[in-house]
Amino acid sequence: MNEELVLPESPLNLKEAGESEVLPRSFENSPPLIPHVIVDFLPIKIGENMCFGCHDPEAAADVGATPVPKSHMYDIRNDKQIEGLAGANFNCTQCHVVQADAPTIVGNSFKADFRNDKSRISSNLLETLNEGVE
Ligand code: HEC
Ligand code: HEC
Repeated sequence: MNEELVLPESPLNLKEAGESEVLPRSFENSPPLIPHVIVDFLPIKIGENMCFGCHDPEAAADVGATPVPKSHMYDIRNDKQIEGLAGANFNCTQCHVVQADAPTIVGNSFKADFRNDKSRISSNLLETLNEGVE
């Protein structure tokens, strides 16, 4: 709440897709940070989604990108399998942000729990979403 506060610089990672280094997930099934520069891929428009162009499961292997997870190709609200990218997941940068060297301004003691090593570097939200509910 301090208008005098000057935020420290938080330089963004400017590596190109393919030269990038992915970071472990912040917590299980958190949206991974984008490890590459994205200026050339924005804005995301209804008729042009360059992110999905590379991260589409049908194209990802060819460009060496991780395909979007199953949760992004599923209509979670209506519990329905769909073809292609779910509308709710179209606007990638709503949830995924570019890696930045950002100092922690407010102290934080949060420690993430991971149930196994795989979940530190990949996600499976669609399989675990209803855990404890059903
Ligand atoms: C030219 C192809 C290309 C485009 C376009 C592209 N990416 Fe990537 N992306 C890659 C590659 C290659 C990697 C590194 C390998 C990987 O997926 O971990 C990567 C990595 C990522 C990761 C990290 C995955 C992980 O497991 O940690 C995220 C998140 C991501 N991209 C999101 C985006 C978003 C959002 C956009 C659009 C703003 C975008 N990408 C556009 C190729 C691309
Ligand atoms: C509503 C928030 C949201 C949006 C929008 C979104 N994502 Fe995600 N993304 C997530 C979350 C949360 C995860 C991790 C949990 C999961 O879904 O499996 C994830 C995981 C990923 C992963 C890692 C997959 C893996 O197997 O580890 C990639 C790559 C990715 N997203 C790319 C994208 C791209 C590209 C777009 C746009 C086409 C996008 N995401 C849109 C929230 C989002």
